[in-house]
Amino acid sequence: MTDVAPLARVRGAVRVPGDKSYSHRAVLLSALARGRSTLSGLSPGADVAATLDAVARLGARVERDGDRVAVHGPGGGLRPSAEPLECANSGTTMRLLCGVVAAVAGSHRLVGDASLSRRPMDRVATPLRLMGARVHGEGPTLHAPLVVEGGPLSGIAYHVPVPSAQVKSAVLLAGLSAAGPTTVVESVRTRTTTEDALRAAGLDLAVAPEGAGRRVTLSPGRPSARSWFVPGDPSQAAFFAVLGAIHEDASLEVVSLDAAPERVGFVGVLARMGARVALHDHGGFHSLSALSSALVATEVHSHEIPSVDEVPILTVAACAAEGVSAFRAMGELRVKESDRFAGSLELAGRLGARAWAEGDDFFVEGLGAARRFAPFRLDAGLDHRMVMAAAIAGAAGRGCAIQGADTVATSYPHFFRDLALLA
Ligand code: S3P
Repeated sequence: MTDVAPLARVRGAVRVPGDKSYSHRAVLLSALARGRSTLSGLSPGADVAATLDAVARLGARVERDGDRVAVHGPGGGLRPSAEPLECANSGTTMRLLCGVVAAVAGSHRLVGDASLSRRPMDRVATPLRLMGARVHGEGPTLHAPLVVEGGPLSGIAYHVPVPSAQVKSAVLLAGLSAAGPTTVVESVRTRTTTEDALRAAGLDLAVAPEGAGRRVTLSPGRPSARSWFVPGDPSQAAFFAVLGAIHEDASLEVVSLDAAPERVGFVGVLARMGARVALHDHGGFHSLSALSSALVATEVHSHEIPSVDEVPILTVAACAAEGVSAFRAMGELRVKESDRFAGSLELAGRLGARAWAEGDDFFVEGLGAARRFAPFRLDAGLDHRMVMAAAIAGAAGRGCAIQGADTVATSYPHFFRDLALLA
């Protein structure tokens, strides 16, 4: 159990870790390139470390020097690993690697921890099979351990049936080595970290709007080795944005962030709730400020925050708000590192709010400004974002005890230190 004490007041600035999504892409494209790439500001979490270990097993040379990393892509391309590719807790590692190894001739075994081994991999297996790879897994939704038999691939045109940046990315990464162009159509705009990284590595990508989504077409090619700089992770900033908004005596800043529109939907949601939370553009990079606020309930649709990573912490905001907040079309929460649909409802209940589900929607009746969160205990499962959401609620309220808090190391090893520095 990890105890989180209430913070009497919140002041100061936080530098969140490098963006996890962009870090994975920078590592994978560097491994696929010929020669030496340097990466700075990489996410220091275990998830990105799993991707670095995996590319090393596939034949890339990885040199680590603090937060600077060099990756040398082998001239002759990647080759299968005799040992399994250990993806640990990281769905992004497993799904994106499937796309990479689908084109590497030979057999690849991908394994993960108990949380990852429950998550569906059929969503990447389906398009990769259409491209020519063979993918084997457990059960009807293909859980890890997975075996991918890689070989020559053909480009496809694929409509992604669930909004998922990981699926889009796995297909595009496989498309790098396919015969002919690969097109991915998404009906909801998900994060563009893969497209941005592919362009940065010199690849030819055409992107066009299609309905409310996009059509992305990639011509095959080899990424160029380069220097990567990874900006701060907006999904980590969301925790501090909510801390600032719900704490009764707070003024904080988060410095140096990526603020791509698909990543900062949570800012719009909080603004609608009356939060004094704002993004500031410093010409190329962004910061975020957050001040104590009186919140009102709102309605949130999953399309506003594709990937739904910020929903557990927005649930905490809803618990502090006046009125009933609605979270619509949130079914994807059930297949994250834990069942975050159930976990968000459980957390709301522990804080003293009333929360209930109707199909894929859920509702939270907030406590309003007059009442403070109850002290509480929570088992966070193997889910870093549930740990951080609970810790923020405890710090803003009357404290909490969290089982499994070590799991923050997957994305934000210094989270508790950074939280304490705001006291
Ligand atoms: C990620 C995509 C996500 C998200 C995860 C990172 C990525 O899920 O939950 O934290 O880096 O592509 P989806 O594939 O559901 O968008």
